[in-house]
Amino acid sequence: MTGQPYSPRLILGLESSCDETSVALLEDGVRPLVNLVSSQVALHEKYGGVVPEVACRRHMEVLNPLLSEAFSAAGRSLSDVDAIAVTHGPGLVGAVLLGVAAAKTLAALLDVPLIGVNHLEGHLYSVFLEHTVELPLVCLLVSGGHTLIVRMDAPGRYEVLGSTRDDAAGEAFDKVAKAMGLGYPGGPRVDRLARSGRSSAVAFPRPMLHEGYEFSFSGLKTAVLLHLQSPSRVSDEDLCASFQAAVVDTLVAKTLRAAHASGARTVAVAGGVASNSGLRASMQAACARAGLPLVYPSPGLCTDNAAMIARAGWELARLGVRSPLTLDARPSLPLVSRV
Ligand code: KG4
Ligand code: ZN
Repeated sequence: MTGQPYSPRLILGLESSCDETSVALLEDGVRPLVNLVSSQVALHEKYGGVVPEVACRRHMEVLNPLLSEAFSAAGRSLSDVDAIAVTHGPGLVGAVLLGVAAAKTLAALLDVPLIGVNHLEGHLYSVFLEHTVELPLVCLLVSGGHTLIVRMDAPGRYEVLGSTRDDAAGEAFDKVAKAMGLGYPGGPRVDRLARSGRSSAVAFPRPMLHEGYEFSFSGLKTAVLLHLQSPSRVSDEDLCASFQAAVVDTLVAKTLRAAHASGARTVAVAGGVASNSGLRASMQAACARAGLPLVYPSPGLCTDNAAMIARAGWELARLGVRSPLTLDARPSLPLVSRV
């Protein structure tokens, strides 16, 4: 629903689409007064992945205390809030629903606009919290649930250039780590081991490296699992370095191809996997060669957080976007332009 543009001074952002509950207060669209994240990683570790039912219950337990903590840390009260931005998809349906229900209740109670934000849109806007970004922007969005390349021409105008046909990049990291017995979440552990390994130790496939913007990681994951059973198994360090290099080569090649083809003025990487040291180094080198500015959110803004949702909400308010109080949780919400 779009109408008159408005410019809320203080936006309350809520995020609960997966295993992080987060509450943020953003002032004037630029200053996160507070961005609290309650992570459930330890809770899900023993299951080797996120258990949706467990995630919902934890969101329910922590959301209210987190709200109180956020207001007291920022020195503000509920009555200071001018608009509420909430993730309404994609994500785990029960988890998203909980945040949406809280946001709708507060919006009705305070009589302020409600803004439903696409979680992926939030990750895109995480880049803008700390950087001045020249558009068009080409953003590689890599997390445990998503891998896509998005072009942004103007605020609220997005084009998904490519996405994954199967596993997300972070999911591939997590599955490989699980098979190696490294625990959950696997990405940071694989990254750490890869630093002292040889990336040329095993020549893993780089699917569709020379064409298009689509990704596929399940073949690579299977190749690693097969290698784990082979008699010529290399060390954990070499295995991690070789696997990581295959993922990184594909991510970097396709992002740069998309940036060239769409005349990007800025390249960005967002989402949990953006913290990967191999990806950072390789993307930095490729962008420097191409003369393209590269921006990264700092690690706390790469993973799921509500400041990015509030930032997206602020941009959407300026485009006149408001959601009705019937806003629903959409587990498979696609990323589409708002204008
Ligand atoms: O964005 P995020 O916090 O949650 C989702 O929306 O999925 O991303 C979490 C994902 C996990 O798959 C985790 O293994 C991966 O990001 N990750 C990494 C690294 N740090 C986190 N993957 C590779 N290298 C890292 N350093
Ligand atoms: Zn995310």
